[in-house]
Amino acid sequence: MSAPSDKPLLIVFGAGGHGRVAADAALCSGAFRGVVASDRNPAAWGTALLPGVPVLAPEALAGLPTPLALHVAIGNNPVRRQETDQLRAGLPQATLSTIVHPHASVAVTARIAPGCLITAQCVIGPLAELGAGVIVNHGAVVDHDCRIAAWAHIAPGVKLGGAVRVGEAALVGAGSTVLRNLHVGRNATLGAGAVLLQDLPEGQAWAGVPARPLQGASA
Ligand SMILES: CC(C)(COP(=O)(O)OP(=O)(O)OC[C@H]1O[C@@H](n2cnc3c(N)ncnc32)[C@H](O)[C@@H]1OP(=O)(O)O)[C@@H](O)C(=O)NCCC(=O)NCCS
Repeated sequence: MSAPSDKPLLIVFGAGGHGRVAADAALCSGAFRGVVASDRNPAAWGTALLPGVPVLAPEALAGLPTPLALHVAIGNNPVRRQETDQLRAGLPQATLSTIVHPHASVAVTARIAPGCLITAQCVIGPLAELGAGVIVNHGAVVDHDCRIAAWAHIAPGVKLGGAVRVGEAALVGAGSTVLRNLHVGRNATLGAGAVLLQDLPEGQAWAGVPARPLQGASA
């Protein structure tokens, strides 16, 4: 077991509601010696994301004492990917970190890449795979053998049946259900509350029960 001083200080980048969820999960996990936040919005600097979690300007991050961990907590999938690339280039001393809330259930055989957020009450089943920067939000179920590509967001209360594949940067909306073996395409959006009964093609937005293409909706 490592001494508390060996644990990294975590930077949560993104000082909004999603950042609060990430910072809270990090604090609950006990995996970090402390948590600070940062954001590009100057209005957030000097405020607290949560009690004891100060929001620093990005320029202040390079001076923080190592070891350092970085988690990008931005709900928008393309922005999360872009910020992760930019911050990793500017802060090579920080390790991109996955945060796992202690009240998530993660199978011992699940494979989880860096930069993911696994929140309270969610379930990651056996042999499931999460790519970099994936969000599995409160109460979501990612069942056995699912493969979730990098930068996807599995929103609160989603149910993914076994062996579902979710493409890169896709959004599976809150409370939706995807039947087993189906594929949600890259950059696709499944609307909140939908039930998906067939594959959702890349870049499209579908919603409803059963899910159908949304005319004119923005994916
Ligand atoms: C599907 C979604 C992306 C569409 O957003 P949008 O492009 O802004 O679409 P609009 O709100 O303009 O709605 C377009 C039409 O789709 C309908 N619609 C929107 N979302 C819907 C949903 N989830 N289920 C059924 N119909 C929906 C609207 O009623 C509207 O119908 P109309 O043209 O007959 O009036 C969005 O509503 C959604 O469900 N996003 C998921 C959000 C989420 O879960 N985020 C995670 C938070 S942690």
